[in-house]
Amino acid sequence: MSIPLLQVALDNTSLEDAIASIEQYGHLIDIVEVGTILHVAEGLHATKTLRAMYPDKILLDDIKGADAGKTLAELCFGAGADIMTAICAADINTMIAMKKVGEKMTPVRDVQIELYGDWTYEQAASWLAAGIDQLVYHRSRDAELAGKTWDTPDFEKIGKLCEMGFKVTITGGLNKEDLHLFKDYPIHCVIGGRSIRNAANPAAEAQAFQTEIRRIWGAK
Ligand code: 5RP
Ligand code: MG
Repeated sequence: MSIPLLQVALDNTSLEDAIASIEQYGHLIDIVEVGTILHVAEGLHATKTLRAMYPDKILLDDIKGADAGKTLAELCFGAGADIMTAICAADINTMIAMKKVGEKMTPVRDVQIELYGDWTYEQAASWLAAGIDQLVYHRSRDAELAGKTWDTPDFEKIGKLCEMGFKVTITGGLNKEDLHLFKDYPIHCVIGGRSIRNAANPAAEAQAFQTEIRRIWGAK
């Protein structure tokens, strides 16, 4: 298995806070995420600023787009995002429209589907057929607050999506202590958000995530 990437979600409510946070550990991570919350708070200015700060990192704009795929993709990719997200409930034509915009750019930009709520394996097969092979398996923040834990149905779905050929990212209130739960799966990327941003020492926590990722997946 290859070693999962580490992404940090900047779900700050101001760009000032996001910058103060990422400056501590940006050099330790693989993907910088403009979180949905930051995007709502600061818009594409956040995407452009983080692109300028980290020209060589993968930059992901987590807008969870639901419609108007071409326009949203022109905006997100035009602001410097390498990857943007679409919500799984979106019409497949929205996802395809995003993907087409990204394919025309140099370098090519990509679309990732955020799995929330109801979706089917038939839909997943149609996303693959459309050339979309990145998914985020998400425990929602609100479900987590209501007591949702990672359980067997989650792992079965993650395993099946990996087997189908998706690059699967995992997220949703993940701590480094949770990562071993996913050890049997070829996870593409791990997202840390609050657990890294709100740590007493965010740089040490980002490094601890990387160390734990390598401990779990590095020896396989
Ligand atoms: C929520 C998100 C978050 O960016 C993601 O869940 C990571 O943040 P955290 O680890 O704090 O849950 O997309 O919708
Ligand atoms: Mg996010």
